[in-house]
Amino acid sequence: MAKEINTIGVLTSGGDAPGMNAAIRAVVRTALANGKKVKGIRRGYSGLLEEDIIDMDAVSVADIIDRGGTILYTARCAEMRTEEGQQKAAEICKKHGIDGLVVIGGDGSFQGAKKLAHLGINTIGVPGTIDLDIACTEYTIGFDTAVNTAMEAIDKIRDTSTSHERCSVIEVMGRNAGYIALWCGIANGAEQILVTERYDHNENKIIDNIIEKRKTGKKHYIIVNAEGIGNSEILAKKIEAETGMETRATIIGHIQRGGSPTCKDRVYASTMGAKAVDLLCQGKSMRVVGYKNGEFIDYDIDEALAMKKDLDEYMYEMSKKLSR
Ligand code: ADP
Ligand code: F6P
Repeated sequence: MAKEINTIGVLTSGGDAPGMNAAIRAVVRTALANGKKVKGIRRGYSGLLEEDIIDMDAVSVADIIDRGGTILYTARCAEMRTEEGQQKAAEICKKHGIDGLVVIGGDGSFQGAKKLAHLGINTIGVPGTIDLDIACTEYTIGFDTAVNTAMEAIDKIRDTSTSHERCSVIEVMGRNAGYIALWCGIANGAEQILVTERYDHNENKIIDNIIEKRKTGKKHYIIVNAEGIGNSEILAKKIEAETGMETRATIIGHIQRGGSPTCKDRVYASTMGAKAVDLLCQGKSMRVVGYKNGEFIDYDIDEALAMKKDLDEYMYEMSKKLSR
């Protein structure tokens, strides 16, 4: 028989992402609508291990749907990777009456959620990361806002790059994932898009391409690169030295992680937060909420974590043709 949940805990973990607040709000209000108590766990698994746990009501999530970041704070927590840490976390949940838990974060956070589920706490993962690098879902909370923020910043850099007839090396976030770079590269009409998953580290090829493009009368040369491909400053210096084209590197940085979420991030994050609570209320555990083929769905956590994701090959090949 499905276990009945009385108190739902919610935490955000890993890198923050715009829309996490909308998800928290949806968790709290859906849980309350189902007659459950809600507890907010601050600073992810770190806060759980320190018992930084607060009661939440409908008012505690008022005025947050439009705010970036996470009102519950977030953290990375080494202790949660250990068996002792996981045992302690499960015991703390039980002590506070938390029998259902919604974990908003990335793959790493889902690993922690899975461990807690095995220790008797029903858990559901909600994908929250600007990187879009969770295999079981075509949408992750924060990606839409992050790419729009980066796109606007790159538009501005492009203006000055054109005026000065320069090359610009523009680094966007994504240590292990090139989705932000690929999307912005396409949206901003970059001459080169360098993504972690495909980069061959052949700088001479880039340099030859810049020289070729200049001959055709191109006034600027925009390179959008994912953070994971290497050092943008060094690449810019090399380009300037080898091509004679003035080159500047810009690291867009954490601006991509903040700001008011887009409509899509607010609505999808709200739907996913609500769905996570619905699953808990149905007695489910060890599930990850996702979005695929136009539908909000859920997967077994092991199945979700075993899935592999790669860039859309058609989009990647197309981006090369469009940047000619
Ligand atoms: P993300 O959730 O965005 O992938 P991390 O990989 O940094 O971010 O993971 C967030 C947190 O999840 C970690 O700091 C740790 O507390 C927890 N975590 C990560 N991997 C594991 C694991 N294998 N077992 C238990 N907890 C984990
Ligand atoms: O996972 C989200 C992300 O923003 C990555 O794109 C980036 O590599 C990393 O987090 C940066 O983490 P930190 O907040 O530790 O600088």
